[in-house]
Amino acid sequence: MTRRPILLAAPLALMLSGCGEPASDEADATAASTTLASENLNADSFGCISELTAVGRFFVGNLNGDLDATLAVAQSDTGGTYPAGSVVQLVPTEAMVKRAPGFSAETKDWEFFDLDISPEGTKILTRGHADVVNRFGGNCLECHEKAEPQWDLICSTDHGCDPIPLNDAMIRALQKTDPRCPAQELSEEEQEGLKALQALLG
Ligand code: HEC
Repeated sequence: MTRRPILLAAPLALMLSGCGEPASDEADATAASTTLASENLNADSFGCISELTAVGRFFVGNLNGDLDATLAVAQSDTGGTYPAGSVVQLVPTEAMVKRAPGFSAETKDWEFFDLDISPEGTKILTRGHADVVNRFGGNCLECHEKAEPQWDLICSTDHGCDPIPLNDAMIRALQKTDPRCPAQELSEEEQEGLKALQALLG
């Protein structure tokens, strides 16, 4: 039975070495969960919206690899503070990314993005905090700060923000026609939603 300790030692060593992080990584676990350097956050951080994880009407991801922590807040009935690295998108052209603590108190450390998307990929049109305006002239923060405090600037449909004039079918149609995604079939309702949206946008 002298071999038993060795057999036990191997899985233990695997467990201690962490969740697949290379041992040479200098960042400790705490730093990894709060750091999202701006040079690492660029147009390539974004892609096909439906490759993110759906939560109700919107999609979430986590650029620091901690999707579970993001989902825990996104799926909570009582709200919470999203962890650094969280990405939230309702439509393919707009995104919110939670930056490290201290990025911007005014936006609760969210960075807002207005994106240009095409089959070739993503371009960042505008990024920043309090002064980011979308292509319709709307300031992201002015709308999103109306969310009740426990929702961390996430509006959804019942968090206290003024509603936007997009119904479910329009939102799903926009999500399904993201040119960075493989082609997806639209239901009749979604096709109508898309037409109504095109009429709305002139
Ligand atoms: C006119 C007000 C308004 C403006 C301007 C606005 N938003 Fe929103 N946004 C909303 C509302 C309301 C929702 C929820 C819509 C729904 O689910 O029906 C939303 C949803 C979102 C979501 C999904 C998460 C959530 O809060 O429900 C993201 C991400 C988002 N917006 C990002 C942005 C970004 C980035 C900008 C600026 C480039 C922006 N928004 C500008 C009102 C606005």
